[in-house]
Amino acid sequence: MVLDFFKKKGVNKILFVATEAAPFAKAGGLGEVMFSLPRALEKLGYDARVMIPRYAGIDPHQFKLDMEYEGLQVPTDAKEAGQPEYLICNVRKYAAGQLPRSPVTTYFLENLEYYEQRANIYGYADDAVRWTLLSRGILEFLRRSEWKPDVIVSADWQTGFLPNYLKTVYKDDPRLNSIATVFSIHNLYYQGMFNHRFVSETDYDAGQAAIPSFFDPRLLQLNGMRRGIMYADLINTVSPTYAKEIMTEEFGELLDGLLRERRSRVYGVINAIDYKVFNAETNTNLKMQFNSGSLERRAMNKVEVQSRFGLPQEKDKFLVALVSRLTEQKGLDLLFSVIDALLKELPLQFVVLGIGDGKYMSYFQDLEKRFPGKVAANLVFDANLPHLIYAGADLILVPSKFEPCGLSQMEAMRYGAVPLVRKTGGLADTVEDYNPEKNTGTGFVFESFDSLSLVMAMTRAFESFRNPKVWRGIQGRAMEKDFSWKYSAVEYAKLFEISAKLVKRVEE
Ligand code: GLC
Repeated sequence: MVLDFFKKKGVNKILFVATEAAPFAKAGGLGEVMFSLPRALEKLGYDARVMIPRYAGIDPHQFKLDMEYEGLQVPTDAKEAGQPEYLICNVRKYAAGQLPRSPVTTYFLENLEYYEQRANIYGYADDAVRWTLLSRGILEFLRRSEWKPDVIVSADWQTGFLPNYLKTVYKDDPRLNSIATVFSIHNLYYQGMFNHRFVSETDYDAGQAAIPSFFDPRLLQLNGMRRGIMYADLINTVSPTYAKEIMTEEFGELLDGLLRERRSRVYGVINAIDYKVFNAETNTNLKMQFNSGSLERRAMNKVEVQSRFGLPQEKDKFLVALVSRLTEQKGLDLLFSVIDALLKELPLQFVVLGIGDGKYMSYFQDLEKRFPGKVAANLVFDANLPHLIYAGADLILVPSKFEPCGLSQMEAMRYGAVPLVRKTGGLADTVEDYNPEKNTGTGFVFESFDSLSLVMAMTRAFESFRNPKVWRGIQGRAMEKDFSWKYSAVEYAKLFEISAKLVKRVEE
């Protein structure tokens, strides 16, 4: 079946457009997927490439970036005297194969003012300009470049402007108008520079009006998420359950109506992880490598985690970890009212790794002070330490309020750490609750978003941990699961074919 499909495929060149892509720039799961998914497609024979801005942290020498196009004029649609008609950008290129564990060929949009002088990916007052410039700059580049994709996949609100420009400003451009667009929703919660929950009906961007000039303050009101959903040929999100959830009022973030209207074009493909990078037998961030036949070796990694976090080094202690962006989405509020009791009643250690909202950062700092020797928080972004934590910890907490996919539960299971998750989005699709009667399950799952439900799952996890045979069983089943891109990359390939047909139909 799969082979037949690939013989007949009409699409070959795919361009992923995003605000982050590892190893160049990464703030979360999106950046990781922009590394591993294109690589998986390349393995299937696709010419998959990525394009992101060149932020201050992306050093052209370190990453061996060549100049691909100099002096790209990107129209600003300026309406007032004194405003420049064009912003001048360059495009640099990383050619695949130069770095170890090489990402695919990656293009970088350069602009001194909007990217090169910015140390962070997100969080500037003029982000609306930075992202409309990215969308338009990429299309202007593709008008001139030798390489032209069959399909462009753009991710989240920041790049929702790309299908919008393509289907309006560039709709008659003979070079661009045959390109199919897929809009990927990695997180529906963020839609633009405004908080969509506090925008009045009349100010809510309906998506039809032209994208204003880069210098027009109305740019701040644009809803890039809505526009991406409206203008793309096809919409996908990162798990089947989230694809269903976002069509409901509870998870739809005010866009459920629009998504329901376009439901025949909405798909959900579960993310996967790179099995070469997440590999307990080879990963060099581990103190001790292991496989499912030598789980006892994980103890060395546990002791290393304890030592790095300054906790007593006890290999039999129940080590619980939270590795996460510290935002409301991640369900951290559920911990607030119960964590003291859990720490007092259960002999466990709790480590936290991650960065995010001040409210959570100070909460964990305070918790660490109140429970010395039991709690340790490392409130930074670290791309390597998670490997060691997953390879040493017993339980990984992912109590998310909503979770489009979630990667950490899969990464953890790959390393034999058992996930405790809330049944939502991709977490519901990847973790199966432990059932003692049938001796099945890969983790602990709770349904309702409240602290008591979390405590119940936590208690069940702790009791199971006390029985080494039971625990080994759960670990073994979790490690056996196949979360590699093998299946999902093929699902993406199918989406590309569908999207290409949809564009053709528009042309006819
Ligand atoms: C976002 C989502 C997360 C998902 C990731 C990659 O970070 O919040 O659930 O795994 O994107 O798709």
